[in-house]
Amino acid sequence: MCGSFTVFSGKWFEGRHEADLNWGATPDSFRVRRIAAWQYSSRTARISSRMTQKRSIFEEVATAKPSTPVIVQAGIIDRNAGTARRTLRVWLIILFALVTLTLITGGLTRLTDAGLSITEWRPVTGALPPMNSDAWEMEFGKYRMTAEYRQQNRGMDLSEFKVIYWWEWGHRQLGRVIGLVWAGGMIFFWATRRIPAGWTGRLLFLGVLGGLQGGLGWWMVTSGFIGSAVDVASYRLAMHLGMAFLILAFISWFVFDLSRPAAEIMQSRRNRETGLGSYTAMLVCAVFLQILLGGLVAGIDAGRNYNDWPFMAGGLFPPEMWQIQPWWRNLFENDGTVQFMHRFWGYVIVAIGIGVWLAGRGSGHRRTRRVTAWIIAFLLAQVALGILTVISSAPWHFAIVHQVAAVVLWVAVLLALHQVRYPVSQSVREYG
Ligand code: HEM
Repeated sequence: MCGSFTVFSGKWFEGRHEADLNWGATPDSFRVRRIAAWQYSSRTARISSRMTQKRSIFEEVATAKPSTPVIVQAGIIDRNAGTARRTLRVWLIILFALVTLTLITGGLTRLTDAGLSITEWRPVTGALPPMNSDAWEMEFGKYRMTAEYRQQNRGMDLSEFKVIYWWEWGHRQLGRVIGLVWAGGMIFFWATRRIPAGWTGRLLFLGVLGGLQGGLGWWMVTSGFIGSAVDVASYRLAMHLGMAFLILAFISWFVFDLSRPAAEIMQSRRNRETGLGSYTAMLVCAVFLQILLGGLVAGIDAGRNYNDWPFMAGGLFPPEMWQIQPWWRNLFENDGTVQFMHRFWGYVIVAIGIGVWLAGRGSGHRRTRRVTAWIIAFLLAQVALGILTVISSAPWHFAIVHQVAAVVLWVAVLLALHQVRYPVSQSVREYG
C-alpha cells in the first residue's frame, strides 16, 4: 500500500518535472524539483534493498513496545449491557407474574359472577374502595339498578354485595398496579440509561397494549349493562382474554430475547430450522385461537352443559347446533356449538402438536428436541384438564387450573418457537 503510494507520487513528480521544463521554470523551482527527485530515488532504493534482504518468517513486526499497556474498553452501548439486560428481564418477569395474577382474579371474578358489581369506570379515583357505610350503600344502590341484580341476585344483602365487589375491585386494582410497575420501570430504566439499543419502542408498546387492555375490559363490562343482559358479551370477554394472552406472549418473547446476549441471538438466526419453524408458528396460532374459543365457552358458561365425554348429549355433535337465527350467532351464543368448537379444536391442536414433536425429533439441536417433546406433554395435560372440567360441570377450581395450564402451554409453545428461530448453539461434542 505504502509502496504503491510512493510510486504514484514519484510519477507525479516526474510529470511535474517535464511540465516545468517545457513551460519556462525559475532556478528556484529547479532546486525544489532536484530535492524532490533525490528524495524519491533514495526512498525507492531503501525499499528495494529491504525487499531483496533475506527475511525470517518469525520476523518481529513492531520494534518498539507501547510504554503503557493498551486497555480495550467497551463502548457506551455495550457498557453494562449484561447487567442492564438482566435487570430489564427481572422487571419483565415481575410484569408477567402480575399479568398472570390479574388473569386468575379475572377468571375468579367471572366464576363468582362478580364482573358487573362495579358499574362505573374510574381508572384513578376508583383505586379507593368505598370508605364508609354511606359510600357502600351508594355503590350497592347503583348495582341494584342493573338487570343482573333484578333478574339473578334480587334479595342480595350488603355483605353479599361486598364479596362480589371485592373480587371485581381486586381485578381492576391489579390492572392499576401493573400500570404503575410498568410506568415506574420505564422511568427508572430511561433515567439510568439502562434501556439497551432498540428496546425503547418494544417496552413502550407493552404499555400501549396494557392501556388498550384496560379500555377493552371496560368495553366488555358495558355490554353487561345493555338492556336486559345479565352477563357480558361472550365475544368481548374472548377479546379481553385474548389481549391478556397477547401481552403475556410479548413479555415472554422479550424475556427469551434478553436471556441471551444480543449478538448470540443474531448469530443463531443463521441456524434456524425453517420447516420446523413454520409448523411451530402454526401451533402457536392454533393455541391462540383455542384460547379465544375457551373465552367464548367461559363467557356463556357453556362448560356447565353437555357434561358427557367423548360424546355431547350422546352424539358426536350436540343437538340443535344451528338452532339460533341467523346461523352465525350460534358460533358465539349457542353453548352446544361453542363447546363443540372448543373440544374439536383441542383435538386438532393435539394433531398439530404431534406433528411438531415428530419434526422436532429430527432437529440437530438438543434443546429444540427437548422443548418440542415438552410441548406434547403440556398439551395432553391441558386436554385432560379440559375433559375433567367439562365432565364435572366446570366448578371454579378445575376451571381456574385449566386457565393457568393454558398460560403454561402458551409460554411453552412460544419458547419452542423462539428456540426453533434462534437455536441455542451447542458444542460439536454435544451433537447426535
Ligand atoms: C389445547 C387445548 C386447550 C386450551 C389451550 C384451552 C384453553 C382454555 C381457556 C383459555 C379457557 C378460558 C378459561 C377462562 O377464562 O376461565 C378454557 C375454558 C374451558 N375449556 Fe379449554 N382449552 C383446551 C382444551 C379443552 C378441551 C379439550 C376441553 C373439553 C373437552 C376444554 C374445556 C373447557 C371448558 C369446559 C372451559 C370453560 C371453563 C369455565 O367455565 O371457566 N378445553 N379453555
